[in-house]
Amino acid sequence: MGVLKDAMKTAGRARYTAAQGLRAAWYGGQYALARRRSAGFNRPGEPVFKPANAPDTKALRTAYFDLFRQDRANVEGGLYPDPVVTDMRLRDLPKSIRRAQAFLSDVSDVDRRRLDRNGTEVRTHEAADPKRFPTYYRQNFHYQTDGWLSEGSAEIYDHQVEALFTGAADAMRRAALAELVREVRRGDQRETHVLDLACGTGRFMAQTLRTMPRLNLTGLDLSPPYAGAARAAVRRWPQVEVVEGLAEQLPFEDARFDHLISIYLFHELPPRVRPKVIAEAARVLKPGGSFIIADSLQFGDDAGLDGFLEYFPEGFHEPYYKGYLKWKFDPHMAAAGFTSERLNLAFLTKVRVWRKQG
Ligand SMILES: C[S@@+](CC[C@H](N)C(=O)[O-])C[C@H]1O[C@@H](n2cnc3c(N)ncnc32)[C@H](O)[C@@H]1O
Repeated sequence: MGVLKDAMKTAGRARYTAAQGLRAAWYGGQYALARRRSAGFNRPGEPVFKPANAPDTKALRTAYFDLFRQDRANVEGGLYPDPVVTDMRLRDLPKSIRRAQAFLSDVSDVDRRRLDRNGTEVRTHEAADPKRFPTYYRQNFHYQTDGWLSEGSAEIYDHQVEALFTGAADAMRRAALAELVREVRRGDQRETHVLDLACGTGRFMAQTLRTMPRLNLTGLDLSPPYAGAARAAVRRWPQVEVVEGLAEQLPFEDARFDHLISIYLFHELPPRVRPKVIAEAARVLKPGGSFIIADSLQFGDDAGLDGFLEYFPEGFHEPYYKGYLKWKFDPHMAAAGFTSERLNLAFLTKVRVWRKQG
């Protein structure tokens, strides 16, 4: 019996390594291609990175492999099932190839905008209604074409993010999933209401529902095309809804949710908006509920990676990222009634679990 269990564990690990290795090669290869098609970071006017603050590639590699070790341990620990590698299945291959083509053909426009240091042409986009979308929102983030405001952007967003993180984005989101599972298991998933704040295309929602299929999950995002993509991603789960709205003005009654999660939202918000989002999160959360925030590492989280974090906003249009790197969550979270409970680093992502005082 023990021998069979060991053999299954070994086979599971081999399957996992092959699948994640394939993803890393697929997305890492495209990242390398995209870099070759882009100008270097040494044009006039660009900051010079001295050896002292150059990204530490050894620390980066170590953190990358640690992430996958942690991910596998979570699977073996029963927190979530073996990840479904949706973009690597044979039947998904034509779609993956189409997305790769769209991503790579977008690279020269992205690079041109980077060199112009301009990510605001979205303001003149026909969908960028100033009555509906705040000014800070009507611009590019990571220089993607059309900002958050087109079907085309929503179509390639997940692919772009995976290429940027050489196949690690889903695994980083699963570090947040591990915490959400721990929280939901305090009760019955069928009676638990969770909000995914800024759900994007619903990538995390689908991973969550594959793990907890009876969960009452709501997604909210301000982008109509991204919210549309999220609805498509979760259509198999009838109890789930996706709504369009502002994170700083949530369209929900007080104490509606047991748990909240937000992934990669805060670094894209201006500093004056972040406390408003935190206050709204506290309002719609039940006393004793948790708010899980997964976002980029900040300065000092992993000293070996600080140089890399500094480099990031130079290569990508991330208007609020530099300030985010030093922004302190703690006083704002405390003011809204949260206390910090757990913290976990997963490659370039930091996951923190905050508890709303009862
Ligand atoms: C980097 S994406 C992250 C999406 C998703 N959580 C993920 O894991 O990929 C940021 C998302 O935040 C949304 N967003 C930005 N500001 C927002 C706001 N004020 N209210 C609601 N959504 C917002 C964008 O539309 C976008 O889908």
